[in-house]
Amino acid sequence: MLGEALTDLTARAAPGARAAGLVHELAGIGGRYRRHKKAWQPHLQHTKECITAHLYQADKAEPVLLIGAGLGLDVPLDALNAHPAGALLMDAVETLSLRWKLRRYPNIRFERFDVTGLLAPYAHTEEGAALHPPAIAPLPLVGYGMAVSCNILSQLPLAFADSPPADEDERALTAAIQKAHVKALMAMGCPALLITDYARIETKDDGHRHVIPTVERSFLPGDPLETWDWHIAPKGEAAPDLDISLKVGAWLLNAYC
Ligand SMILES: C[S@@+](CC[C@H](N)C(=O)[O-])C[C@H]1O[C@@H](n2cnc3c(N)ncnc32)[C@H](O)[C@@H]1O
Repeated sequence: MLGEALTDLTARAAPGARAAGLVHELAGIGGRYRRHKKAWQPHLQHTKECITAHLYQADKAEPVLLIGAGLGLDVPLDALNAHPAGALLMDAVETLSLRWKLRRYPNIRFERFDVTGLLAPYAHTEEGAALHPPAIAPLPLVGYGMAVSCNILSQLPLAFADSPPADEDERALTAAIQKAHVKALMAMGCPALLITDYARIETKDDGHRHVIPTVERSFLPGDPLETWDWHIAPKGEAAPDLDISLKVGAWLLNAYC
């Protein structure tokens, strides 16, 4: 609890991100990580290894762009720091813990950036008014040797819609935000590694299993390179009789750039 309050208090945020609840959400992720380090470790390690294994595809003259740095738990900082042109980490929230960690990595920069372009407009939109996501997310399309979208795609609509979406408007908004992100990755002039969860598996003590898509498979670019599980909420975290895992996959886009 104290750790979460400290993260909340000391984080810096892109315009609109704190009001949209992103700082609070990231502090909550930190709390869940501290409670379930062992259960999360295989996913964090798998994500780091997957990114590291594909860095050879990055143009050595340009930095690697990593979108969704968060707390840096699943980010291979040593490997990114070793890339000759370094790396830029992006997130709407910059935590004190990551800021401190990055002091040891002179080749890595951090930028607070809203990759949906919706957080600031949302803060000024009257309740109930429609939001209009851009067709292509406002990511920088040139100037990078490789892009990595790091466990962020399913999270992007959550400031504006429930998961699963509560009604048709939320379903349309969720789809538009996620498609705009994938389209921007596809439009980049460099290879792009997309790592995201795409389904949440909720298992009750009585054996009842509920599979909820977190990203529609049709938005994802073909078959994944690999998939794995993220045991995000072991029994007792979300409810006494409920265990939650995420299905995570990795896709490589623009491989021949
Ligand atoms: C599940 S976390 C990613 C995990 C992260 N790589 C880590 O190791 O902590 C999702 C991240 O998406 C970020 N995020 C959500 N909406 C965003 C937006 N519109 N622009 C930029 N980042 C956003 C959150 O701040 C959070 O850090």
